[in-house]
Amino acid sequence: MSEHAISFTLNGHLHEGRAEARTSLADHLRQAAGHCGVHLGCEHGACGACTVMVDGKAVRACLMLAVQAQGCAVRTVEGLAASDGTLHRVQQVLREEHALQCGFCTPGIAMTLAALVEGETRPDAQALEQAIGGHLCRCTGYQGLRRAAHRLAGDAP
Ligand code: FES
Ligand code: FES
Repeated sequence: MSEHAISFTLNGHLHEGRAEARTSLADHLRQAAGHCGVHLGCEHGACGACTVMVDGKAVRACLMLAVQAQGCAVRTVEGLAASDGTLHRVQQVLREEHALQCGFCTPGIAMTLAALVEGETRPDAQALEQAIGGHLCRCTGYQGLRRAAHRLAGDAP
């Protein structure tokens, strides 16, 4: 298997490493970069646990090869809060709405929501709820997630 040098921006810092051609971005982020907030559930694009941002868009890191991230800006849940520890608005709202139980699905959901609320078009609650619908929560904690979606859309205080 061929190995390649790769470099990309990871949470605002240059990341340089090597990856075999078939290594997924999720595996590379966890094993080479130590970003274990990138959770692995199904490893075939169904659960959303591995979701990260690539160039501002939410992507399933188990479906993307590490070599495809060459030159991109990759953001994981480790890079969501500010450097002083202040939570991202999405993290704060998820926390306040008790929108997590075991937390396994939470990093992926947070990255999906953050990509939408940071995007150019302000998403409404329906769009946010639909996006959450692409994530599987084994704890079935969807009511808190729905409340969080409405708050992030500005429908609730
Ligand atoms: S681990 Fe990537 S979508 Fe489930
Ligand atoms: S909070 Fe446990 S899987 Fe979602």
